[in-house]
Amino acid sequence: MAESKKYGMNTRAIHTEKKFELPTGDVMPPIHMSTTYTHVEPGESEYSYGRINNPTREIFERTMASLEGIEDFEKLHAFAMASGMAAVTLIAELIKPGENIVITKEVYGGTTRFFSEIAPKRGIEVYFCDFYDTDKLNSLINDKTKLVWIESPSNPNINLYDFSKIADIVHNKKSLLVADSTFSTPFITRPFEHGVDIIMHSTTKYIGGHSDTLGGVVITNKPEVHEYLHFVQKASGGIMAPFDAYLAQRGLYTLGPRMQMHSKNAHQLAEYLSKSDHIKKVNYPGLTDFKNHEIAIKQMDYFGGMLSFYTEDHIDNQKLFESLDLYKLAVSLGGVETLIELPALMTHDGASETDAAAPKELLRISVGLENIEDLISDMDKSLNAAIKSLDETKK
Ligand SMILES: Cc1ncc(COP(=O)(O)O)c(C=O)c1O
Repeated sequence: MAESKKYGMNTRAIHTEKKFELPTGDVMPPIHMSTTYTHVEPGESEYSYGRINNPTREIFERTMASLEGIEDFEKLHAFAMASGMAAVTLIAELIKPGENIVITKEVYGGTTRFFSEIAPKRGIEVYFCDFYDTDKLNSLINDKTKLVWIESPSNPNINLYDFSKIADIVHNKKSLLVADSTFSTPFITRPFEHGVDIIMHSTTKYIGGHSDTLGGVVITNKPEVHEYLHFVQKASGGIMAPFDAYLAQRGLYTLGPRMQMHSKNAHQLAEYLSKSDHIKKVNYPGLTDFKNHEIAIKQMDYFGGMLSFYTEDHIDNQKLFESLDLYKLAVSLGGVETLIELPALMTHDGASETDAAAPKELLRISVGLENIEDLISDMDKSLNAAIKSLDETKK
């Protein structure tokens, strides 16, 4: 399938790469595990060595590029990496010693850890900034700024940033805009349509979709950036393994319908929580009183499966966790199952000493695909079971 945009997103997820027509007539592509390939004559072979390229990884890399809207996805294919953090570090290779990166203050804890503890050791200057303060952002970007980095929706406060507004600022200064789009996936937001230059996802989350594969992926629409990242991918070697590429690709076949249902369930749960006397505040892009609702309408097709919230003081959060049957207390997100967590102690502990520290009392839910009535009644029962006694409330 060469003409990417001729077909809709679900069709492209299922049919983008049908290059391997096997004599057995397989309808689905197999997993290619071989690490080496025969040459017709020395130096002549389509595939040579598993770190450089692999047919299973290639299928996933092309499909991802197509879904992000890259017309020439065979050439400007994506780069599949061993984890989301390996994707972050691949992109960071674009920054040379003496150059700098400006990054939204609130990003995933591992990303904060990498940019505050590892990147500076490579001679890279890192500026964390509140991107709602566009004057500050403008003043931080200088002729040494290689990348500007946004995570939207952000983890865990669900902040949204207006990509096209920030892209204008960044491009005026001849810098490149990166978006970590893990929470959205291309079925919700396609950042290239809003001026972003490089997109990354942790495929461990919605793309894999079943909490059983680790991976990351990087896509760019800039040929010169693509060429350099391609070189770094093969030279540094943090690539995605064939089995993970197979699972990530399999995740793409159902990603569209899953994102719709994650969003529908999360919206209903957010509505329920926002009306509950036991809840102080809910962050969810679909709520009309959410601070970034207008941006959500502008750049999201659905509102996503992630929400965060604060319980009222009379709720004991530990009791809440213990009482819930369907919400597993666990890190990560984007799987078919619902997860709840306390970011300050679980996913964002790596950022606890930084400006990006997660609020201590904030809870985050990755809303799964269970029946929403069951999720709501489990939450309702558990909030009531978690009400502190009068003595505890006084403490
Ligand atoms: C938004 C975001 N980006 C990147 C990562 C890192 O991905 P991985 O755990 O696959 O390395 C995560 C992990 O939670 C994440 O939530």
